Amino acid sequence: GPIKNNERRAGILRAAAVLAKGELEHESSGHDWWHIHRVTKLAKTIAAEEGADLFVCELAALLHDLADEKLVDDHEAGMKRTESWMLENGASAEEASRVLEIISTMSFRGGSGSPMTTLEGRVVQDADRLDAIGAIGIARTFVYSGKKGRPMHDPNIPVRHKMTPEEYRSGNDTAINHFHEKLLKLQDLMNTDAGRRIAEERHSFMLEFLERFEREWNGM
Ligand code: ADP
Ligand code: NI
Repeated sequence: GPIKNNERRAGILRAAAVLAKGELEHESSGHDWWHIHRVTKLAKTIAAEEGADLFVCELAALLHDLADEKLVDDHEAGMKRTESWMLENGASAEEASRVLEIISTMSFRGGSGSPMTTLEGRVVQDADRLDAIGAIGIARTFVYSGKKGRPMHDPNIPVRHKMTPEEYRSGNDTAINHFHEKLLKLQDLMNTDAGRRIAEERHSFMLEFLERFEREWNGM
């Protein structure tokens, strides 16, 4: 009955949180467990507002980085493992395939520009992008840059809105430039109304931050 089904789903979500926590506890490239935790909360908020399937959104958010190309050597194997995990932990074949479809589109580098085909996919992608902007986005950017040994800013390097893969590899990047090449563009990539509303607020906070940063840099 419906109560049993809710219990089954709650059990899967609890187990998925334990799995993600264990796997990403020592991750330091910006996809640690707390990123998953924040994205999951955002996904639930947006899903409720958009009328999306809450269970699919929450499970996809919890598992979305486990097969990420940046974190695992073999994306395909990561996907297979995630699928088996879901089936072994009580997800139906249909639920598992809906979640898998979302995280494969999200985590695949080449797929970062490809549109999400389902409402649930649009919700989780918005949640993931929102965690890259606003106050948290600012903090993650400086942590990432610091870890790469890059400067926070260099006024002698002109602002680049697009960087070639060669420029990326050369490491000739700054934290401040990352706002221009990526973070300030995310607002226009939001899929849902709820996501857009949250993005607008976070976007204007980043603009305010950049203005203050510039003023303080110049001793004002
Ligand atoms: P995602 O999987 O969310 O696309 P990334 O691996 O691109 O994440 O980035 C993880 C975090 O590090 C994000 O907050 C992102 O903004 C930040 N980041 C990624 N690339 C850079 C960079 N070149 N400079 C500064 N921060 C970066
Ligand atoms: Ni993520």
